[in-house]
Amino acid sequence: MKVLALVATQRKSGNSDILTDIALQGVKDGGGIIEKIYLKDIFIKPCKGCLRCNILGYCSIKDDDFNKFKDKFLKSDAIILSSPVYYHYITGQMKVLIDRFRSTFYVKITPEGLEHTFIYEKGKTFLFILTLGHPEITDALPAIESLKLWVKTTCKNPVILKPIIATFLALPNQINASKEKLEKIFTKMKIPLDILDEKYDLYQNLLDNAYRSGRILANK
Ligand SMILES: Cc1cc2nc3c(=O)[nH]c(=O)nc-3n(C[C@H](O)[C@H](O)[C@H](O)COP(=O)(O)O)c2cc1C
Repeated sequence: MKVLALVATQRKSGNSDILTDIALQGVKDGGGIIEKIYLKDIFIKPCKGCLRCNILGYCSIKDDDFNKFKDKFLKSDAIILSSPVYYHYITGQMKVLIDRFRSTFYVKITPEGLEHTFIYEKGKTFLFILTLGHPEITDALPAIESLKLWVKTTCKNPVILKPIIATFLALPNQINASKEKLEKIFTKMKIPLDILDEKYDLYQNLLDNAYRSGRILANK
């Protein structure tokens, strides 16, 4: 299985990146082929909103990396979408990218609602990885809902795995810090040390879940 991971953080070695790497390790160990793209390293222009794609069947913007990127996307069996939560949502880079996928389906406006017709047949499996600072997952829920909607309008019969939502994170390398390192991080951030063990266990569980999700993706 070919798995493409899209990472929408500015911080290489940030928490989203680390969880993505662990998931990709799971894919690799399960015999899958992996590719990781940092969205900050590719040139994707924002959608112009011209909606010419509804007539043309492709995006009218040609002078950026979208078409090359779209081919990779189409050839992959599974996609990991990984982003920090910024103001309850995915980061701007990921939003810019997903908007451009409007060019991969036709929309007809009917009195009953919008009718979507897919231009490409691309049944795929998706894993969302979201990291955030809040101790609860609530801030990530608008992003999850929006990504689900995007997947369902972009891909025919998608499979969406249980998302990895990693809370209580701020500093890079926090999620995979040793207990000693985590104690230093908590002290620096003035977080009470009586929750150190609980958070360390939480992070370890999230890393395990990411790895296990990667193993599942390898077999899809
Ligand atoms: C601009 C900005 C907005 C953020 N908004 C939220 C938010 O709405 N809720 C939240 O819990 N954390 C928020 N955070 C914290 C990040 O989601 C969190 O630190 C995340 O782990 C960073 O991911 P990274 O380590 O992969 O860069 C925000 C951080 C930044 C820089």
